[in-house]
Amino acid sequence: MSKTIEEAEWFYELLDEGDKSLLIERFQQFKIHHVLDIGCGNGISLQLMNLALDADYLEGVELRPWKALVEEYHEIMSGKPNHKKDVSTMEELWNAVFKITSGQAMPKKLWSIAYETSIGEYASQLPPGKKYDAIIVSQVLHMTNERDIQCISEILRNHTHAHSMIYYSMKDDYQQNKAGTLQAEDVFNACCTLMKDLRDRNVKYTLGPKSETQGWCHIYTNL
Ligand SMILES: C[S@@+](CC[C@H](N)C(=O)[O-])C[C@H]1O[C@@H](n2cnc3c(N)ncnc32)[C@H](O)[C@@H]1O
Repeated sequence: MSKTIEEAEWFYELLDEGDKSLLIERFQQFKIHHVLDIGCGNGISLQLMNLALDADYLEGVELRPWKALVEEYHEIMSGKPNHKKDVSTMEELWNAVFKITSGQAMPKKLWSIAYETSIGEYASQLPPGKKYDAIIVSQVLHMTNERDIQCISEILRNHTHAHSMIYYSMKDDYQQNKAGTLQAEDVFNACCTLMKDLRDRNVKYTLGPKSETQGWCHIYTNL
């Protein structure tokens, strides 16, 4: 079953599983070639943008090292029939997942993921004038800090164009933050400027599902 924007807890659910023709149509109005996924984790959303929408430049930034993401894949897949035990690099991981999802070999596209890099560091290195056709920030804002949230606002302001697809989501009761990141009750305050910028861009707010341990999911998207 395909999920609507209100039903999906994660961005990738919109492009994963079942009949998604309605959403694909909504995606296609944006003509997405170059995507930036901020806090992209294992790159599953980028891969689905590649598969379902034929986006051809897939770019991401992620705080964790790639080895931790490969280890996480093995932990999650352990004991499952689709588990590819010989995966040891991110490229092998993407190829394995792509093959399982689509039955085809992953087409050669431009991939650029900066691992072990914070949003702030990444934003400071973006060339002025660089514009993305799509920005995804799926379930990241509540895990980060005020400076990185400001940088996410700057990326929205300076590196998107009038027809860029925008998708931001966050949880409102995430209690596992590490030192230096925001407490759940401070996340909305820290996002005030970002939310104003999103409203100014006509990005709509949607209340998404509630998770048992992390609270409600708040979604901002022009999809
Ligand atoms: C809950 S996961 C979501 C992953 C992915 N966006 C998704 O929807 O499947 C949040 C991700 O954001 C990354 N992250 C958190 N703070 C970050 C920061 N300041 N800079 C870059 N990545 C960050 C985490 O390492 C983690 O992979």
